[in-house]
Amino acid sequence: MRNYVAHSVQNLRPSGIRRYFDIAATMTDVVTLGIGEPDFVTPERIIDRGIESLRQGQTRYTSNSGTVELRRAISAYIERLHGLHYNPDNQILVTVGVSEGMWLALKAILDPGDEVLVPQPCFVSNPAAVDMAGGVPVVVDTCAEDDFQVTGAQLEAAISPRTKAILINYPNNPTGAILSRGRLDEIAAVAEKYDLVVISDEIYERLVYGTQHVSFAALPGMYERTILLSGMSKSFAMTGWRIGYVTASPAIMEAVRKLHQYLIMSAPTTGQVAAVEALQNGDDAVRAMVAEYDARRRLIVDGFNRLGLTCFEPRGAFYAFPSIASAGMADEEFCERLLYEERVAVIPGSAFGRSGTGHIRACYATSRQNIETALERLERFMQRHG
Ligand SMILES: Cc1ncc(COP(=O)(O)O)c(C=O)c1O
Repeated sequence: MRNYVAHSVQNLRPSGIRRYFDIAATMTDVVTLGIGEPDFVTPERIIDRGIESLRQGQTRYTSNSGTVELRRAISAYIERLHGLHYNPDNQILVTVGVSEGMWLALKAILDPGDEVLVPQPCFVSNPAAVDMAGGVPVVVDTCAEDDFQVTGAQLEAAISPRTKAILINYPNNPTGAILSRGRLDEIAAVAEKYDLVVISDEIYERLVYGTQHVSFAALPGMYERTILLSGMSKSFAMTGWRIGYVTASPAIMEAVRKLHQYLIMSAPTTGQVAAVEALQNGDDAVRAMVAEYDARRRLIVDGFNRLGLTCFEPRGAFYAFPSIASAGMADEEFCERLLYEERVAVIPGSAFGRSGTGHIRACYATSRQNIETALERLERFMQRHG
């Protein structure tokens, strides 16, 4: 029998993350710093609102764009956070997480062969999403010396006549990097000069420490050319509810809406009801979770630095991205041996692009007790291998 799988899918690289979860799943007593999602359960009032809506019989499709209530709540929320106005009627679409939003944004703007600049290290799905939308991801490497912030010059060096867009994600997965105002302005200048769309995945916008998140769309001149992606998953510990949103200019949103309508119909109804509650009444819960993440962040970053695993200070999301140079082994070998020898699961930095090589990603969305246990085990590991 011939191979029925399309060449384009055969050529997609499998995610480098899965392998470690598969191994960890066969073991007992593993401390996992691998999975990138909140360990908190969704705040109770949000859960209650979801359950209540089911009991009330809200079990049908919603309008394609999402319920009017949720689009209005998203509009008010973005206005409150970023001082930006998006019209709920034609500039906001509710999606099945940022995952769907990312695909819609790319599909809406890319013709076959169009290039998208993708700063790395980055979320594993991003280059694949560009490929799946028919575009060509052009990797732009960032480095620890620059705190993993992409520079305008690095972007400019990667521009070609086919460049259509820049795909940024700050606060960043996997590094925890944020962008300084200077770097934001540099990216904006490149977007302006080469007339590019900027797709900005700001899913970690609420999870920042000692700093204020600036939305890319809020920079002078960037509102019209930015497709802003965010959602409920990380800020409100709602990964399983599958609610995100896309906002952009009405012209781009018309294309995004067409794609969503044929692909998904409408985002999960229960999640949409719960999301309204989160956006309107969830701030106290967010503040409490962020304070706890911050304490864990300091614990893990101090711990890594103490063990000689040099870690730049992550200012956002819930990841630390230390260098493992002092261990004298490749990041994949480090992760595999750490898992087998000490039962600690972390992800090799190279899974997030070549510029992640020599680092590991540790997610600190887990209890302080787990982080302390992981650090004790890591200390034993480094005594043997450091
Ligand atoms: C940078 C980034 N974007 C998007 C997602 C997916 O988000 P969602 O749950 O909204 O689909 C993740 C999840 O890990 C992420 O880290």
